[in-house]
Amino acid sequence: MRLTLARLKLGPADLDDVTAFLADVEHSGSAGTLHKLPRAGRRPDLLLFVGVGAGDEAGWRAAGAKLARSASGEPTLTVLLPDDVTPAAVRGLGEGLWLASYRFRLGADEPPELRRVVLAPPPSGTASTDLAAGLAVAKVTAESTVLARDLTNMPSDEKTPAWFAKRVEKAAAGVPGVTVTVRDPKILAEQGFNAILAVGGGSTRGPRLVELSWRPRGAQRHVVLVGKGITFDTGGICVKPLSGMKLMRKDMAGAAAVVATTLAAASLRLPLRITALAPLAENALGADSFRPGDVVRHYGGITSEIHNTDAEGRLVLGDAMAYAVRRLRPDAIIDLATLTGAQGVALGKRTAALYSHNDTLAGQLADAAATAGESVWRMPLHDDYVEALDSDVADIVNSTDVGAGSLMAALYLREFTGGLRQQWAHVDMSSSAWADSADGELAKGATGWGVRTLLRWLETTS
Ligand code: BES
Ligand code: MN
Ligand code: ZN
Repeated sequence: MRLTLARLKLGPADLDDVTAFLADVEHSGSAGTLHKLPRAGRRPDLLLFVGVGAGDEAGWRAAGAKLARSASGEPTLTVLLPDDVTPAAVRGLGEGLWLASYRFRLGADEPPELRRVVLAPPPSGTASTDLAAGLAVAKVTAESTVLARDLTNMPSDEKTPAWFAKRVEKAAAGVPGVTVTVRDPKILAEQGFNAILAVGGGSTRGPRLVELSWRPRGAQRHVVLVGKGITFDTGGICVKPLSGMKLMRKDMAGAAAVVATTLAAASLRLPLRITALAPLAENALGADSFRPGDVVRHYGGITSEIHNTDAEGRLVLGDAMAYAVRRLRPDAIIDLATLTGAQGVALGKRTAALYSHNDTLAGQLADAAATAGESVWRMPLHDDYVEALDSDVADIVNSTDVGAGSLMAALYLREFTGGLRQQWAHVDMSSSAWADSADGELAKGATGWGVRTLLRWLETTS
């Protein structure tokens, strides 16, 4: 979809139509509600009236999403912006239009249904350059969310760890200043990433670790983003039933989000250093699969006793987090993962679970999510069941039977934060990574959850 800014004025006859129609329909104005006025034989031949609620970014995002769906059969949509429109409103509108227009298609690139949208700013009011800046950020945000959605929607016959790594390299080639390192199984073995190797061991399509780096000159802060990258989760030897397995191509949504966010931050040239780590593996069932009872030695030396091969995400994350803490020594480390079914049981389908010992960091991330139009809920990281992680033969076990599944996964990951325990946040985004049906700016399927929240947070903390 091409979205541009241009001037447009309605004639007096059009304005009479508008006034008469609005007097008639009793438009509530609430965000995303829409009324249509068809005008056969006249131009424009259809007028749409969409509510923007409070007129804030969220209201305009909902309006944009509704417009994209209502005008999808039209060749061109022109949006007349009111006098008091702000850059934030235009950002919301742009994100809503672009994200709601998203469709995942395999193979030939079909043009989007709504090809051209023109935003017509008021003759007076906010300068067009400010509005254009809001629109530019919306474009980067939407494009990176679309990248995360495309990666996550891709079927796992094609989406191997190597394929994912190649896609990242390709995307990064278009962004000046970013570098990508891909570790293959040989290098992973040499360097001691044994949990990534164990989880990937059952698949003929070997694991990878992608390290994507944005390091602008003069950057003070360094943030590491870690994302779970299981390209398909069968559960391994502790195999999942079909009902739990059929959507497990989405089990790399965390990796997709951190990679896409980092590329977006680099496109916006945000003045901080960012490293995205994506440990990628297929948790398959094969003769070389790791087994319950195995003991895995992570990067950095922590050992995990395997109680359940289906608790694989935390294993690969443990390697990547230990590497980040020991070798990259960042100021903050955030991990995103489709980690537990329990997360959705607790919080429903749209809200991710946020864990952190750091009130400031947790508050910033929650604020960022709220402004960006995503939802998180902070969960306690209390020690009630921490002894359940104890193992007879290793440092910790990878799965417990005490309940509180999302919390226990968080406590497990905490073991890998070393001296950065206070600078760490974990986001369990199992349910919000996927939408069962189209909803607002979400298309059916992968949502790209986390890109908008992380990018907003990076924008405001850099
Ligand atoms: N990828 C799953 C979690 C998941 C479930 C994500 C549903 C999205 C939707 C994860 O690897 C897993 O299997 N977790 C287990 C952990 C258990 C074995 C401790 C789970 O949640 O059942
Ligand atoms: Mn699993
Ligand atoms: Zn998984």
